[in-house]
Amino acid sequence: MYQGFEIKYSDRITEDKERQDIEVKAERLINKYMEKLLKGNEHLGTGLKAEVFSLVESSICVKIIVKPDLCFNNVEQELKLMDKLYAGGINIPRPLGAAYSIDHKVSLLFMERVNGSSVEDFLLDKNLTELPQGFEVEKFFASLQKQVNKMHEVLGIHHRDLHAGNVMIDVDGQPWIIDFDKSTEHYFANEDPYIQATIPGHYEKLPQDNHLIKEMKKDAIKHFSKEKEGNINV
Ligand SMILES: Nc1ncnc2c1ncn2[C@@H]1O[C@H](COP(=O)(O)OP(=O)(O)OP(=O)(O)O)[C@@H](O)[C@H]1O
Ligand SMILES: [Mg+2]
Repeated sequence: MYQGFEIKYSDRITEDKERQDIEVKAERLINKYMEKLLKGNEHLGTGLKAEVFSLVESSICVKIIVKPDLCFNNVEQELKLMDKLYAGGINIPRPLGAAYSIDHKVSLLFMERVNGSSVEDFLLDKNLTELPQGFEVEKFFASLQKQVNKMHEVLGIHHRDLHAGNVMIDVDGQPWIIDFDKSTEHYFANEDPYIQATIPGHYEKLPQDNHLIKEMKKDAIKHFSKEKEGNINV
């Protein structure tokens, strides 16, 4: 399954024979890595389009796109948007790289692993981890909103899929924004970034980031105030 990755060669490798040799060996290495990654290692999460894995105790993880048809951006576009967001100081996983299989059936996005869980996991009580000590829901959402405002106003990037599965809470109670597969930065001043043309004459209306933050905050306040630990300030 993970055979046939497209490899970008160094300028020093000029002979075809040597390229072929490297290709075979590199593929073997990729396969070995993927096997290792998928077998005894940590499954961090599943979304509608992707599975995310990490090596045990590793600080990097890989997003494996399993449903490319549902994606708006390919992994390279997602990587480029992440590069801009990261450089702009938004709290997102550090982007590392993207890889495709030659048939483009498999694509991978390598990034920093976030030490935490998605807001959705907390709301659904999916994981056993508890909220960080002294977690403040108001502070968390104020910080999230500040970052999203910066994304919009300074960087001109709209997330367009900011549901609770795409916001993570780290062990210090800080928000991280993930999953930029539906994000966009290219629209004209008079255009609505949440209207996406599909086939000619048709368009799709995507949910507004600010609206989803408000909904998520309401759900979180309701859910977390029910928690009995008593260490949460809502
Ligand atoms: N960098 C990361 N570190 C730790 N966990 C992560 C990271 N990226 C993703 N995850 C986990 O994996 C899950 C799925 O990842 P992601 O949201 O990118 O996939 P998706 O299929 O595009 O999601 P969607 O259902 O929103 O389309 C996330 O909800 C999160 O729990
Ligand atoms: Mg997601």
